[in-house]
Amino acid sequence: MNLPLSAGDGFLRTDQLVKRFDGVAAVDDVSLSIHKGEIFALLGSSGCGKSTLLRMLAGFEKPTEGSVILDGVDIASFPPYERPINMMFQSYALFPHLTVWDNIAFGLKREGMPKGEIEARVQEMLKLVQLETFAKRKPHQLSGGQQQRVALARSLAKRPQLLLLDEPLGALDKKLRERTQFELVNILESVGVTCVMVTHDQEEAMAMASRIAVMSHGRVLQVGTPKEIYEHPNCRFVADFIGNVNMFEGELTVDEADRCEVTTEQGVVNVGHGISGTLGMSVAIAVRPEKIHIDKTRPDVNVNLFTGKVREIAYFGSYNTFIVEMPGGRRVKITETNTTRHESSLITWEDAVFFWWDDSAPVVLTQ
Ligand SMILES: Nc1ncnc2c1ncn2[C@@H]1O[C@H](COP(=O)(O)OP(=O)(O)OP(=O)(O)O)[C@@H](O)[C@H]1O
Ligand SMILES: [Mg+2]
Repeated sequence: MNLPLSAGDGFLRTDQLVKRFDGVAAVDDVSLSIHKGEIFALLGSSGCGKSTLLRMLAGFEKPTEGSVILDGVDIASFPPYERPINMMFQSYALFPHLTVWDNIAFGLKREGMPKGEIEARVQEMLKLVQLETFAKRKPHQLSGGQQQRVALARSLAKRPQLLLLDEPLGALDKKLRERTQFELVNILESVGVTCVMVTHDQEEAMAMASRIAVMSHGRVLQVGTPKEIYEHPNCRFVADFIGNVNMFEGELTVDEADRCEVTTEQGVVNVGHGISGTLGMSVAIAVRPEKIHIDKTRPDVNVNLFTGKVREIAYFGSYNTFIVEMPGGRRVKITETNTTRHESSLITWEDAVFFWWDDSAPVVLTQ
């Protein structure tokens, strides 16, 4: 599943990048092309190589093989301080004894920027992250979200061409994280800086990034917009990693130009497109819970129609989730928005139900 370099305009490109520690690949043959001004997320579970990849971009880690090309220049041999890149680390330690103002000014002073310019730049950064009235405070006098914004201001102060963020919101609790995601995107977009961010939180990647690279065991499995990755995962791992999904293993039994059929233990699934596969091959069917309809009365359809018993229900305010057990014991997750159902047809525990989906709903996975 090697990724072709996407056409032309890669502002930042990695070409077959590899990093081995003691012979074990932490990053394995990664070729990416990242556009100018985009927020690009590296998404994957702990230990999959996200930080190592980011550290190679920053120059803190030397690639075992491959190259890093920024704006047409191979920067592999450049030390970190000669790269127009700033990296905000996984634990963005602010200097505890310095004020917000001095934290932001730190890198500029070290660079020998004239005093007047430093003052103007720090002021601009404080305004950007909306902390103008907090300039004299020390980090411990700020909330987690405010500290995060100081760290961001400090990273942006030198006006890097490329900003690398390693778990930028990792230190925040869930609620604050969600609020800060939008703030962060607004700030990054208003500066127009190209940004590669690392996260293990798929909702965060979906909310913030223009494109996502899903990683596993050092490899990039798929690159795409949040929608592409959600709607058209290219393999079982990505389908399962992003959002909720029902997966049915089966065998390809019909494959025509505009339709195919997959025979599973739970029955035959009709799909509204062909896959140019080989009859008899093992494939998986992936169906998102919100693409499945559920009712107590039999609908007027005769394909992709199944039956089961409601075993669990969870109400989430705006939507409900049903866990339906099929006759063979297989459990299926179905979600339904709360606006769609009338009192009279409420579904409850132990109800026998029908569930079905359109032939455009399933994705056939061959990998
Ligand atoms: N300096 C090192 N020496 C040896 N192995 C390392 C080194 N740095 C990282 N590794 C290994 O490389 C793999 C990838 O590590 P990395 O830190 O890139 O993961 P990650 O995706 O950032 O994980 P997390 O989400 O937990 O931060 C891990 O198996 C890790 O143990
Ligand atoms: Mg990491």
